[in-house]
Amino acid sequence: MCGIVGYVGSNPVLDILLDGLEQLEYRGYDSSGIAVRNGDKINVYKAVGKLKNLREELSSHAYEIQKSTSGIGHIRWATHGAPTVVNAHPHVSNCGKLVVVHNGIIENYKELKSKLEAQGCTFKSQTDTETVAHLVALKYEEVKDLTKAVGLAVNEIEGAYALEIMHADEPDKIVITKRNAPLIIGVANDGFYAGSDIPAFIKHTNKAVYLSDNQIATLTSSSMKIQDKDGNEVTPKIEQLPWEPVALSKMGYKHFMLKEIHEQPDVVRNILFGKLHSADTPIELEEVKLTREHLKSLNRIQIIACGTSLHAGMIGKYLIEDFCQIPVDIEASSEYIYRKTVTDEHTLVIGVSQSGETADTLTAIKQAKARGSHILIITNRPDSAMAREADSLLSVNAGIEVSVAATKSYIAQLTSFYLLALFMAEIKETLDNVKLSTLKSEMLILPQKIEQILSNKDKIQTCARKYSGTRDFIYIARGINYPTALEGALKLKEISYINATGYPAGELKHGPIAMLDETMPVLSILMKGSVYDKLLSNSEEARARNARMIALTNSDSPKLDELFDCIIKVPDIDEILSPIISIIPLQLIAYYIAEFLGKDVDQPRNLAKSVTVE
Ligand code: F6R
Repeated sequence: MCGIVGYVGSNPVLDILLDGLEQLEYRGYDSSGIAVRNGDKINVYKAVGKLKNLREELSSHAYEIQKSTSGIGHIRWATHGAPTVVNAHPHVSNCGKLVVVHNGIIENYKELKSKLEAQGCTFKSQTDTETVAHLVALKYEEVKDLTKAVGLAVNEIEGAYALEIMHADEPDKIVITKRNAPLIIGVANDGFYAGSDIPAFIKHTNKAVYLSDNQIATLTSSSMKIQDKDGNEVTPKIEQLPWEPVALSKMGYKHFMLKEIHEQPDVVRNILFGKLHSADTPIELEEVKLTREHLKSLNRIQIIACGTSLHAGMIGKYLIEDFCQIPVDIEASSEYIYRKTVTDEHTLVIGVSQSGETADTLTAIKQAKARGSHILIITNRPDSAMAREADSLLSVNAGIEVSVAATKSYIAQLTSFYLLALFMAEIKETLDNVKLSTLKSEMLILPQKIEQILSNKDKIQTCARKYSGTRDFIYIARGINYPTALEGALKLKEISYINATGYPAGELKHGPIAMLDETMPVLSILMKGSVYDKLLSNSEEARARNARMIALTNSDSPKLDELFDCIIKVPDIDEILSPIISIIPLQLIAYYIAEFLGKDVDQPRNLAKSVTVE
């Protein structure tokens, strides 16, 4: 969950590294550092806190390295050791000549550390990464060749890593390698880039090579050599990247999160395009590679995901069970991997992940795959590790999401679940044709309904600000919007640090109601349909305890004015489709509260966009 970047070429490296790290700040941002070749030495600069601190630190040194054309950089999300300058990367070997940046976790670092200490190495940091610096440096002493030294060292390393390494005695060279962590090479006319994610270099080139596990690449300003773990040379496959640099601009919005919330109508349009043509034509999902017979015979589905993706999966369960009458289990990946699940070749396992990199979900998927299940992945990253494990890949194409708090990727996952559930229902013939066409025609106008909500955002902002002083917040819902309550609460927690919780409203009286008094805001997701009356009664119970009541509703009932202090109206919609629109005001409430409180909306504390540690 750290970000790494590297460059060797003909252009000055400093801005390339700093710009690259800025694009990776979503991966972690508690400290950063760079190592840059300076004549026959390598200079290292580090700072604690956000990247701007490193920029400040460098402002008085820039003249020393302005002509440098090779270097590596790192932005950290601390796992081993507090965010301090000493623990920040790059780490340097005892001889002072070898530098390394690392994303991932060296699992056997304690054993390695004892061994290296016994060989005379002294450690300065508390990180696992420092073992790599000393280990490769010792190997280098033996073989005097950086690529060979890296090859020998990785044989002794266990865990997940993407590494970029330079040695002062080998000018114009960076050696990189990876296992279970992403690392991509950018191929350009001016040299070679390396990054843990595409944004690190997309500004400079859209040609890339995805390094595979255990491969080692030796990059110089004019050459790229890739070898497999046995030292055999591999011919690189250069791919054209799909993303344009413009995707990384805020386009006039104050934060990426607000921009990404506003992109949601188009995200839904994009996903529906080519798959849902009209109310009367069948849904086309060529991506689902299960045969019709297999799909018809499926008797069990498991959905695995974390965080926001887990909430999308919870709605997916509701839809598949309702539309297709197939039992669906949903579980947090981190729980799934540590118990004996009943998963076999008769189970369809659906992994949901924005990043496609989340370590817990990736491990769970690999476990299920090993048991013979068909793996369907719903992800925003068709180039990710999870996508590579997929038998069927539903790529949601939401475009790059920079804000750490997921918004448009959630809407994209939800839309994909609707398409998948309807697609399966059509094959299994479990929904009558009238219901199918009604749902499909409503889906086609979802983008306009989201646009309607966004055009009323000023009202939502006014409501949100009234509650920005609260320490706690409760969201209640029932049925298909219960996951919406969880997701709304998660959004608020993540970016405002207000203690927000989502409850199934029927559970209020079994405990949480004890917390209600005149200080507690309770937001009720009151969509017309099967649970409307029940939820209204639950809201009355909360009102009777003097809670500050907010309604998110598509109802015009005058009764609501007596019960609620603040009413946020959303367009009318079939209950089963309502999660796609009811989440939009909740994203905006979270955004406006955090923005009003002056929080770091796009990069909330302690979080990272892509969680590549278990
Ligand atoms: C919340 C959020 C996280 C992620 C979770 C899983 O806004 O973004 O809860 O949903 O870390 O990440 P992915 O979807 O990349 O597997």
